[in-house]
Amino acid sequence: MDFLSGKHILVGVCGGIAAYKSAELVRLARAAGARVRVVMTASAAEFIGARTFQALSAEPVWRDWTDDRSGMDHIDLARWADRILVAPATADRLARLAQGRADDLLGAICLASQAPLMLAPSMNQAMWRNPATQDNLALLRRRGARICGPGEGEQACGDVGPGRMLEPGVLVQMLTDSFRNGALAGLKVVVTAGPTREALDPVRYLSNRSSGKMGYAAAVAAREAGAEVALVSGPVALPAPAGVALTRVETAQDMLEATLPLARACDIFIAAAAVADYRPATTAAQKLKRQAGGRTLALEPAADVLATVAAMPRPPFCVGFAAETDDNLQHHAHKKRLSKGIDMVAANRVGPGVGFDSDENTLLLVWEGGQTMLEQDTKTRLGVRLIECIADRFRARQTTTESHAEHTTENTR
Ligand SMILES: Cc1cc2nc3c(=O)[nH]c(=O)nc-3n(C[C@H](O)[C@H](O)[C@H](O)COP(=O)(O)O)c2cc1C
Repeated sequence: MDFLSGKHILVGVCGGIAAYKSAELVRLARAAGARVRVVMTASAAEFIGARTFQALSAEPVWRDWTDDRSGMDHIDLARWADRILVAPATADRLARLAQGRADDLLGAICLASQAPLMLAPSMNQAMWRNPATQDNLALLRRRGARICGPGEGEQACGDVGPGRMLEPGVLVQMLTDSFRNGALAGLKVVVTAGPTREALDPVRYLSNRSSGKMGYAAAVAAREAGAEVALVSGPVALPAPAGVALTRVETAQDMLEATLPLARACDIFIAAAAVADYRPATTAAQKLKRQAGGRTLALEPAADVLATVAAMPRPPFCVGFAAETDDNLQHHAHKKRLSKGIDMVAANRVGPGVGFDSDENTLLLVWEGGQTMLEQDTKTRLGVRLIECIADRFRARQTTTESHAEHTTENTR
């Protein structure tokens, strides 16, 4: 089964005896549907050839800075990865990671990436037991790294004890599980993102400054939390996120038509798109020509995607976004939640340098009887925190609905 379908796995291979097992790891991860890219350390090249990984991954292999293709490969690969698995992770690599060193490509990628870091240690049992190694591991664990293994048994040096790299099949299973255990496992989530374009004539349109970054970040975070995610996106300059079913649309009406069938079958609907409120009442068939004096545009209301989904007979848990240019965020957020009849509003201030088209944001989340402020952060990290909060509120609503249903049944017995 393609349990890793669409996932981007970056495998870091270090200079240890177990490097030969990483070839099988790459093969199995690809067989499970993942795209795999391999970054080898300089020492790893002493143990196994890059060509093996190139053939098994069907991707280029990075051996060090000299293999840089874009001039910024350490950042590109850091962003590309959904998971970084360092296997084998040598004692020396653990020490370097603990120190946050970036003096080789693998170190720089690990430092620059927001992807979860998984480490599969492999070393002599005495190296493993050494307090220096154990202290490094404790520090890495505290920072969120997942230590996979090691196993125990006979070692290449003749010793017996802990320090064997876990078998490739076990590591691929751990990778798979790492995508499953999230707060939204088993749920379907639909996210809208980006602006819409409402045509005035064949070449001009009304639109807005939405970049789609917040919606895309929410979609990726929902997928990371284990959900099956569909993303309906207006025109943006962002790549399709891996593992997310993407539908590209242009107008508010297109967005409505693409979203409704998905929303009927989903558990959570996150409306992050900046959908036009108005569209031109007519679209000229030919390009409008310059004319003497001004021109008045007649506008009519565009489709209200969020309100339409919220008004469905059994609506999903609905989250709307409110972009405001004045300071009274809290007031606007509560008002929008009530007027749209939705479960949660994520409000943010927009204007020069904040909100739209920016990499950072702040979000005020409001729901019935509560609110929380997510302070300024990258949209990637805000997406994760937003999804955590949505998962909490979704569960709380489910509990309330279930206890209400039980109460009603009791009373009708
Ligand atoms: C034959 C040989 C085998 C080695 N095996 C291991 C090993 O299994 N685990 C380990 O932590 N270090 C091992 N080392 C030491 C590492 O190769 C060395 O610490 C290196 O600097 C690791 O660099 P890297 O983590 O950047 O790949 C071995 C060295 C040699 C010469």
